[in-house]
Amino acid sequence: MKSFNHYIAALLLWMISRVLAGQTYSKSLDITGAGFYNEFFFETPRDPTHGRVEYVDQQTAQQHNLTYASNGTFILRADYTTYLTPSDPGRKSVRIKSHKQFSTYVAIFDIRHMPVGCGTWPAVWTLGNDWPNQGEIDILEGVNSVSPNIASLHTGSNCHMPPARNMTGQSMGQDCAAYETGNDGCGVQFVDHASFGDLFNTAQGGWYAVERTTSDIKVYFWSRNDSSVPHQVGWSYDIIEPDTWGQPVAAWSNEKCDFANHFGPHSIMVNIAFCGDWAGAVYSQSGCPDTCENFVDTNPGSFYHAYFDFSGIRIYT
Ligand SMILES: *[C@@H]1O[C@H](CO)[C@@H](O)[C@H](O)[C@H]1NC(C)=O
Ligand SMILES: *[C@@H]1O[C@H](CO)[C@@H](O)[C@H](O)[C@H]1NC(C)=O
Ligand SMILES: *[C@@H]1O[C@H](CO)[C@@H](O)[C@H](O)[C@H]1NC(C)=O
Ligand SMILES: *[C@@H]1O[C@H](CO)[C@@H](O)[C@H](O)[C@H]1NC(C)=O
Repeated sequence: MKSFNHYIAALLLWMISRVLAGQTYSKSLDITGAGFYNEFFFETPRDPTHGRVEYVDQQTAQQHNLTYASNGTFILRADYTTYLTPSDPGRKSVRIKSHKQFSTYVAIFDIRHMPVGCGTWPAVWTLGNDWPNQGEIDILEGVNSVSPNIASLHTGSNCHMPPARNMTGQSMGQDCAAYETGNDGCGVQFVDHASFGDLFNTAQGGWYAVERTTSDIKVYFWSRNDSSVPHQVGWSYDIIEPDTWGQPVAAWSNEKCDFANHFGPHSIMVNIAFCGDWAGAVYSQSGCPDTCENFVDTNPGSFYHAYFDFSGIRIYT
């Protein structure tokens, strides 16, 4: 009986420690190098954001070296050699979507370089099957090299966020509904300018992470040389516990947004667009020359740096 009580006491202590410690996740997928070709497919839609871009299939991308895999590296880029005329469909680029979908999980994106330049609109994001009703989570996104990063949710109607949340970033809107906000959604602006653009690249990039539970969505970022990067993230641990990582940059909760109704299973997306609804709309305010479309058409060389270099993507469930 005594040892039984000890056993119960130990079990209770263990359970309490688990609750206090928060959710743990184990690595279920480690995507690096040519592994990107297995886990992602190339989407070739006309750009839904009306950009000056032509998304190409995998064969074309590899022919033009717009994607390139080697040991520990996956590069996605836009064409930087072709001079376009207005009748061309757009600058060749890439939009990849994961075959697998995820609901409650953590993804860590280890990125060495991100696309920069006037007219560019790169994004790392997640997307449900029925937009906007199954939600969109923008993790790394911005335009025309303007830092810092803005992470954002886009949903159907009736999804709101309280203004004060436990995060280091600044709330830019509390209504997440895509149609009611001119597709602004409920964005969170980062503080760290190394989260986007040229400063991201001069620091050799860093780590973005997203955690999605049934009640919370959190985005984290650490620049490459940031001494606060958790070992679990920087050293690719097999078991992680995001609640030990400190305050997220962006956090959204289900208090005034029924996650079960607003977020379906999501694919992971990476794409590089040009101009269009966002990059085009704020193009001159970003300090960029000419018109966005003409600049993109006639200055191929300025897109030499319009590429992602992924060290890898790790999925934990
Ligand atoms: C393709 O791109 C990779 C990465 O940018 C580069 O190292 C390689 O030299 C390129 N290959 C060709 C044939 O241009
Ligand atoms: C990839 O790089 C790692 C570390 O540098 C090395 O151990 C491994 O042998 C390489 N694999 C291939 C297929 O080149
Ligand atoms: C990162 O830190 C290392 C070691 O402290 C230093 O040598 C390097 O220059 C730093 N890199 C950047 C981009 O700040
Ligand atoms: C905010 O989050 C941090 C890190 O996750 C946690 O330590 C802290 O207790 C939270 N604060 C509140 C008021 O919830």
